Amino acid sequence: MPLFQKKTKELSQLPPPEHIAIIMDGNGRWATKKGLPRTAGHAAGSEVFRRIATYCRDIGVSYLTVYAFSTENWKRSAEEVSAIMGLLKKYLFEALEKMERDRIKLKFLGDLSRLSPELLALIDRTNAVSEQYEGFQANICLNYGGRDEIVHAARAFARACLAGEKDPDSLTEADFGNYLYSAGIPDPDLIIRPSGEERISNFLLWQSAYAEYYFTDVLWPDFTPAELDKAIAAFHRRNRRFGGV
Ligand code: IPE
Ligand code: IPE
Ligand code: MG
Repeated sequence: MPLFQKKTKELSQLPPPEHIAIIMDGNGRWATKKGLPRTAGHAAGSEVFRRIATYCRDIGVSYLTVYAFSTENWKRSAEEVSAIMGLLKKYLFEALEKMERDRIKLKFLGDLSRLSPELLALIDRTNAVSEQYEGFQANICLNYGGRDEIVHAARAFARACLAGEKDPDSLTEADFGNYLYSAGIPDPDLIIRPSGEERISNFLLWQSAYAEYYFTDVLWPDFTPAELDKAIAAFHRRNRRFGGV
C-alpha cells in the first residue's frame, strides 16, 4: 500500500477531536459569486450547518460550536440582519420537530437579551427539549463576542464579590471560566475557519488559548464532511505541547 494511503487510514482511525468550533464564514461571497443576494448564502450556510452537525455527531465528536452571528454583525444592513434572524427561526422550528429523531442537543452562547421575543421563545423551547438529551451537543454562538463574554463574566464576578459571596484574591482561571457563556463546556481542540480569512474575529477568545487552527479557502456553503475530514486529519498531525516539551 502506498505510504500516503496508509497514513490516511491510520489518521482516520484516531478518535476525533472532542470539541470542534467553526467560524461559518463566506456565505455572502458564495452568493455574490453566483449572482444571488447575500441572504441566499445564509440560507445555504444554514443547511450546511445541519449536515456538518449530523456528521460530527456520527463520527463521535462531543461538542460542535459554531459562530452564527457576532456582536459586530449588527453593523450589516437591516435587511441582512433580519434575513439571518428569520433563518435562525426557521432552523429552530425545524430542529424542534426533528430533535426526537436527531438527538442533537442545542445550546446558545452569547448575549441573547438583544434577540426578538419570538426568537427567545424558540430558544427557551429548544433548551427545554435539549435538557432531556445526553450526548452530542451543538453550541450556537448568537450575538456572541469573545470580549463581550469576558466583560459579562467580569461583571457577574464583581457582583458576587460585592454581595460577599466571592473573594477577588481567590479567583482562579477555572472559577472565571464558570462565569463565561461556555461554562461547563471543555475548550475547543480545533477551530476551523473557511472562506480564506485568517483571523479570529472575536470568537472564543478565552477558550481558544490552546486550540489548533485550521484555515481553508472553501466558502462555508461549499463546506462538506470531506472538508471536515481534512481538517481533522490536519489536527491529528499537530503536536500539541500545551507549553511543555
Ligand atoms: C458568515 O458569512 C455569516 C455571518 C457573519 C452571519 P458572511 O456573511 O460574513 O460572508 P462573507 O464573509 O461576506 O462572504
Ligand atoms: C465572523 O465572520 C462572524 C461569523 C461567522 C458569524 P465575519 O464575516 O463577521 O468576520 P469579519 O468581519 O470578516 O472579521
Ligand atoms: Mg464574513
